[in-house]
Amino acid sequence: MTDYSELARTLDERIAAAADLATLDAIRVEALGKTGTISELLKSLGKMSPDERREQGPKINGLRDEVAAHIARRRAALETAELDARLASERVDLSLPPPPERRGRVHPTMQVMDEMIAVFAEMGFSLAEGPDIEDDFHNFTALNFPPKHPAREMHDTFWLPVNEKGERKVLRTHTSPVQVRVMQRLNEKLPSWIAGGQEPPIRVIVPGRTYRSDSDATHTPMFHQLEGLVIDRDIHMGHLKWTLDQFIARYFETPVVETRFRPHHFPFTEPSAEMDVRCDRSGGDVKIGQGADWMEIVGCGMVHPNVLRNCGLDPDQWQGFAFGFGVDRLGMLKYGMPDLRDMFASDVRWLEHFGFSAFQAPNPATGLS
Ligand code: DAH
Repeated sequence: MTDYSELARTLDERIAAAADLATLDAIRVEALGKTGTISELLKSLGKMSPDERREQGPKINGLRDEVAAHIARRRAALETAELDARLASERVDLSLPPPPERRGRVHPTMQVMDEMIAVFAEMGFSLAEGPDIEDDFHNFTALNFPPKHPAREMHDTFWLPVNEKGERKVLRTHTSPVQVRVMQRLNEKLPSWIAGGQEPPIRVIVPGRTYRSDSDATHTPMFHQLEGLVIDRDIHMGHLKWTLDQFIARYFETPVVETRFRPHHFPFTEPSAEMDVRCDRSGGDVKIGQGADWMEIVGCGMVHPNVLRNCGLDPDQWQGFAFGFGVDRLGMLKYGMPDLRDMFASDVRWLEHFGFSAFQAPNPATGLS
């Protein structure tokens, strides 16, 4: 009597151990294929005596059915595992953040401000800031604008409604009030462990937003200025001219600049001037440093003795100069924007075109670019 249990056990073990569908199929061919072990056993039935066949037939057929069923079960299990693995590997985690995409551009005004800061930082100026909402004292009175003087109207001031203290504040019309704040800070009682600080020298620049009720191709209700203030002993207009000449040459990246002072009036400086720079307007755009034309570039002057007094400084001991640039205007000149209003229209196409990459940031330590 032939025993198939050994063959059945070996096949069972191998089927159970088959790790993938290809291995399982190889086992199937080996056992149940045309010339497979079990197929050969089935063929051998024909050569047996009827008695033998009666006995062996059910056993061999049973073995074939059992092995085929086991292979089918194992195949189903392997297929399920394979599908599970694929689903796991192809899964998308929708809660993950998307990959970073750089979209924004640096606004030309901010780029220009950073360029200006970089140049003045090299010259030893530090930064000061003040509030956009100012009081009448800092914006006008301390700066020697006489009360009720038409100059207060000259600026097309945005006045705020009278507050509960009876004060009428303004959106600052220029960055000059920060001059006052910087000088007044000298009078503040500083802790004893802070060295100096109670006396000039002062060497600051003040970038910031300013506001006037005005709108055309060269004016917007909000714009940007950069103020400069230097206070020390024996300061004169020569220092002012040198500082502005240096700045203009560095900012426009031209070695040759020719400038001239044109007399002007500002209540807070005496004498006051506007500085013009030689330029060429014969082509489409303005070329700085050459040509037959002059262009106004900055308001400036020697700090008025009344302003020094209003801020607690003795004008017989301390002198100073001050200047105020229009930042947006300086950007238009350097980068060729025709209309100031476009600067603040938030048109994405304009920003893409005139904006700067964040990697082009001027660095106060290393210069413009
Ligand atoms: N504050 C002036 C303006 O807004 C600009 C200015 C002129 C500032 C002369 C100054 C200066 O510091 O000395 O038109």
